[in-house]
Amino acid sequence: MYNYQLHQQISLSVLQHHLDVAGKDNLFYSRFIANAQEIAQLYHNLYQNHPKGKEEFSNLLETITKAYASRTDVLKQKDEEKEELGNWFLSNQLAGMSLYVDRFCGSLQNLPSKLAYFEELGVNYLHLMPIFESPEGESDGGYAVSNFREVDPRFGSLDDLKAVQSAMQEQGMYLMIDIVLNHTSYRHQWAEKAKAGDKRYQDYFYMYDDRYIPNQFEEHMPEIFPESAPGSFSYVPECNKWVMSVFHNYQWDLNYTNPEVLVTMMDTIFYYANLGVDVLRIDAPAFIWKQLGTSCQNLPEAHNLLRLIKLCVQVAAPGMALLGEAIVAPAEIMKYFGTDRFVAKECDFAYNATQMALQWDALATGDTRVMLAAQHEILQKPYGCSWITYTRCHDDIGLGYDDSMIRAAGFNAYEHRKFLKEYYSGALPYSPASGALFSVNPKTQDARISGSLASLCGLEKAINRNDTSAIEIALQKITLMQAQSMFVGGLPILFYGDELGTVNDYGYLNDPGKSYDNRWMHRPIIDWNRVEKIKEPDTIEAKVFHATQKLIQIRKNNSVFADTKNLTWLTPYNIHIAGFIRSNEDQQFYCLFNFSGQASYITWYAFKNHGKRGNKLFDHWSETMHEIGHDHEYLIIPAYGCCIMELI
Ligand code: GLC
Repeated sequence: MYNYQLHQQISLSVLQHHLDVAGKDNLFYSRFIANAQEIAQLYHNLYQNHPKGKEEFSNLLETITKAYASRTDVLKQKDEEKEELGNWFLSNQLAGMSLYVDRFCGSLQNLPSKLAYFEELGVNYLHLMPIFESPEGESDGGYAVSNFREVDPRFGSLDDLKAVQSAMQEQGMYLMIDIVLNHTSYRHQWAEKAKAGDKRYQDYFYMYDDRYIPNQFEEHMPEIFPESAPGSFSYVPECNKWVMSVFHNYQWDLNYTNPEVLVTMMDTIFYYANLGVDVLRIDAPAFIWKQLGTSCQNLPEAHNLLRLIKLCVQVAAPGMALLGEAIVAPAEIMKYFGTDRFVAKECDFAYNATQMALQWDALATGDTRVMLAAQHEILQKPYGCSWITYTRCHDDIGLGYDDSMIRAAGFNAYEHRKFLKEYYSGALPYSPASGALFSVNPKTQDARISGSLASLCGLEKAINRNDTSAIEIALQKITLMQAQSMFVGGLPILFYGDELGTVNDYGYLNDPGKSYDNRWMHRPIIDWNRVEKIKEPDTIEAKVFHATQKLIQIRKNNSVFADTKNLTWLTPYNIHIAGFIRSNEDQQFYCLFNFSGQASYITWYAFKNHGKRGNKLFDHWSETMHEIGHDHEYLIIPAYGCCIMELI
């Protein structure tokens, strides 16, 4: 519906910034007007009764105009190119890596000299783990930000970041960074002002005079780090109040029921957009709205906020896609793509945390039935959005998929999870994995798993025992896991170090700022002498690197791996094998993964009852051609092997 007053408000703000609405800024102006009513609606859903609601709405409109006005011509040009491509981020040409700048190469200044390394590997998309100011020792790996606008001197300067961005842009690479939307460090100036008694800034947080309301909240709020940070509130001695701190006590939750917080953070989002960020990772979006009597996770208002943010970005910086880091139950993750009339209008990406965890499930059990039982849910992802597919990241592995999925495979959910935790944490003597339990909840026995890809796949133990055949098995497993993430549909993001087969690093135990958090065991410091070993063909580093490189190449060479919602799971003829077809008009690929430690057999019939028919299959992984045989004959897939076969 047309809203004259809104139109006037926008026009005024646009004119104040001297934008050329009939000329070069016309597209922006059209986008703004076209989306204004929806922006207003989403905003008013949350804030229409707030005393500052009206004033902050004007500020929000102004923030959008200001963001566009200060966007460089180069970025505006890139926006247009991306818009012309439409859903540019679904492309099979993208392959990503997450890394800690300091642990990967020391500093931002050194990063441009490493771009050749990424190019060799095939990676053209970098997720730089948080680099904005964060108190050392109380930083949660940078996720406790004390200044959203200044790069932490540990990593370099803002100019260094800009230099990295432009070097990447020149090489046609894409940049992703985080916006830590849910909380700030307790050393952020807003928190400092709140501690000093400034009411305006106390309202930026959930602050209470006593434990009365905190107790009520805590009745329904699950603990995130029950071992290292029990409870969801912390006492603030400076002002004798209690503040909500869902994660660590040094991370204070921002109060988005206050529209001033939204508008200020929106301005920060645009600040990042205007640094040339291609994908913004919204950290912990499931938590951004709290309400008494609820778990304070995945609330409808959180989705409303994300839709509002998405639209504002769409207007001012349409080339920046949004990733919602919601690591929650499978059905809840789906909602971050938007629901009802907002389908495909919320987050452009979500992590496929369900699939990631299920790969670890299948690797431990050798049985793919739980993985398959979850696919009906995962396949609900709408067209136009995509998954981040990954095997490992900086966080723990949570076994958060549904009990019903485990039961559908014929297992008892409690016993099954217990087995997985014991398998990966080293409690089972026969398990090849070296990992640890993370955040064990003594009340519920819930726990997640820490450990690097290589160590969880058995490489660490195999190396320590000097067991060459166990080393080979571990390498097979690493490739199997990476291969499934590469082809299962979405944008694959590797975790740095995994491309070299890096095992756990227990050095974190000597650092009091890290020793309480065993996720640091899988966040390595890269030794560049080791990287040199990729040139010696028989080394572990070379084998893992070249396998990863080859997987990326196969993905890039075949447009069928663009995420056009073109995946069909194969009828499961063998419980050890997970297989799916990716197809488009030109190509049909069968991707099969054997999670068993034995060779597994699959009847050729499996290749005849879905999709197009052909006579031959070319396996791009082993580079061999297979004739499709009689129904009673078999394709044999080696232990922990995979086949990426194109129908010929
Ligand atoms: C996200 C991050 C995680 C961090 C948490 C709190 O889940 O990935 O590392 O601890 O948010 O900011």
